[in-house]
Amino acid sequence: MLVNSKKLFDNALKQGYAIPAYNINNLEWIRFILEACNEDKSPVILAVTPSSIEYFGGYKIVVNLVETMINELCIKVPVVLHLDHANDFLSCKMAIDAGFTSVMIDVSTMGFEDNVAITDKVVSYAKEHDVSVEAELGSLGSDDSSQDIYLYSDLEQSHDFVFRTGIDSFAPSVGNVHGFYNGNEKIDFELLGAICKMVRIPLVLHGASGLDDNKLKTAIFCGVTKINFNTDLMYAWSCEVRKYLKTNKDIYDPRKIILSGKNAVKKVIHEKNTIIGSKNRL
Ligand code: 13P
Repeated sequence: MLVNSKKLFDNALKQGYAIPAYNINNLEWIRFILEACNEDKSPVILAVTPSSIEYFGGYKIVVNLVETMINELCIKVPVVLHLDHANDFLSCKMAIDAGFTSVMIDVSTMGFEDNVAITDKVVSYAKEHDVSVEAELGSLGSDDSSQDIYLYSDLEQSHDFVFRTGIDSFAPSVGNVHGFYNGNEKIDFELLGAICKMVRIPLVLHGASGLDDNKLKTAIFCGVTKINFNTDLMYAWSCEVRKYLKTNKDIYDPRKIILSGKNAVKKVIHEKNTIIGSKNRL
């Protein structure tokens, strides 16, 4: 069943765990994630970036694929279909019109007032359609060396931003980066906790791949309710596929090649669901 994130966040906040958000990169990824979370009885957020929307061929294709798979595979856990890091109003509108149940508007690299104005416009449209909205302030880094400067969210501005936009969840920049940390991780948990007390809405931790169990649990303790993973799953999958191709030099069936990484991806999902406490929550 596709749902928005409101009830899931309320339950997670009350019971002190986090909802996992896993990026779907292709058709098979949707299935791996749905199966693993259904086995774990874990609610799940399927996150789709604009570049993945393009890869799939459009918003409606993604919605139809996800809804059909939920029905055909008899998935019993609540599923949120979320647009990840949309950088304009139109992308959010198209996702909402197609049937997404949650969107993230990320115009954090624009000036503060522009960020407030565009986010506010997305919230107004989303509210009419019962869709949840996440937004970001500050600037997240990436392991891509061309973007290694990031900006921590300002405490007062965070409060102002959340209050003025009415977003459902807030993704602060607290030293988290997308991709690999390469041993250079500087998450400011004190700031994370202070932001949580200040904004009083569910917080989202982007770039959670590579963070150890303690850090993930500390983030939840500080008020994080949604945790985003992508790189860890992709890395596990690609390692397995490389191994498979090395030892199966005659195989050329793409289904066998893609599926050789399935168990590795599901194993990572089971581990993450266990660490962040989303298992057995139905
Ligand atoms: P990682 O790829 O670092 O896990 O980050 C995922 C993410 O935050 C998606 O928005």
